[in-house]
Amino acid sequence: METKERTPVLWLHGLECTCCSESFIRSAHPLVKDVVLSMISLDYDDTLMASAGHQAEAILEETMQKYKGKYILAVEGNPPLNEDGMFCIVGGKPFLDQLKHAAKDAAAIIAWGSCASWGCVQAARPNPTQAVPIHKVIKDKPIIKVPGCPPIAEVMTGVITYMLTFGKVPELDRQGRPKMFYSQRIHDKCYRRPHFDAGQFVEQWDDEGARKGYCLYKVGCKGPTTYNACSTVRWNEGTSFPIQAGHGCIGCSEDGFWDKGSFYDRL
Ligand code: SF4
Ligand code: SF4
Ligand code: F3S
Repeated sequence: METKERTPVLWLHGLECTCCSESFIRSAHPLVKDVVLSMISLDYDDTLMASAGHQAEAILEETMQKYKGKYILAVEGNPPLNEDGMFCIVGGKPFLDQLKHAAKDAAAIIAWGSCASWGCVQAARPNPTQAVPIHKVIKDKPIIKVPGCPPIAEVMTGVITYMLTFGKVPELDRQGRPKMFYSQRIHDKCYRRPHFDAGQFVEQWDDEGARKGYCLYKVGCKGPTTYNACSTVRWNEGTSFPIQAGHGCIGCSEDGFWDKGSFYDRL
């Protein structure tokens, strides 16, 4: 990979909270500095780049023309469709237009996080801006979905590393997620699973079962229906993940988790 020309990446931001970027910059394996400075050429990212305004938009156009069909388009957040996209404006135009324009000549498209992959909080009922996941507006190309709110840093850089190393898109499941990170449920590898199997549950917060580290299913854990790598890769350099910190999984990498009673709901 060291001898290859760095692959240009254009990283767009629609309706979002920016925590996918916050997660990405904490990647330890590989270190994000190696990804950004040695592996890819992050030519446009209106959150991280030094330039702004017309200069930044000019770089976007220049990169698209120079590397037509060769750049990776990474999208964080999603487009709102209501009122012709006026709820998210970038460079004086609706993000919807920027997204369609940049997707046209991309070699591959990555949807970072649950916003771009599924819609997430801004698409939760009643979705006043009519925010939609990016596959609703880009229909002529495969999209690599890397869901999670946010996704794990090493999952994000792992997907990029795979693409740069093998020159192809990783194997995806039927929903467009890389199988290498999303083929198992949190529940399948959860270290509290023996308690689930033994019928030992936390019945309410801070009870005896909670102190003993019992299973969190009865206080709303969505691990049995959530596909993500948290119970294997974990967060913060493999230190921990929500269940290890004492709270059930809220299913943040699943489609529509905001509307499925994930927050402090037993069902
Ligand atoms: Fe933020 Fe979650 Fe959307 Fe990522 S997926 S931008 S963390 S709201
Ligand atoms: Fe499954 Fe959640 Fe219990 Fe872990 S805490 S065993 S993921 S139900
Ligand atoms: Fe999200 Fe559940 Fe992992 S809430 S961070 S998928 S443990």
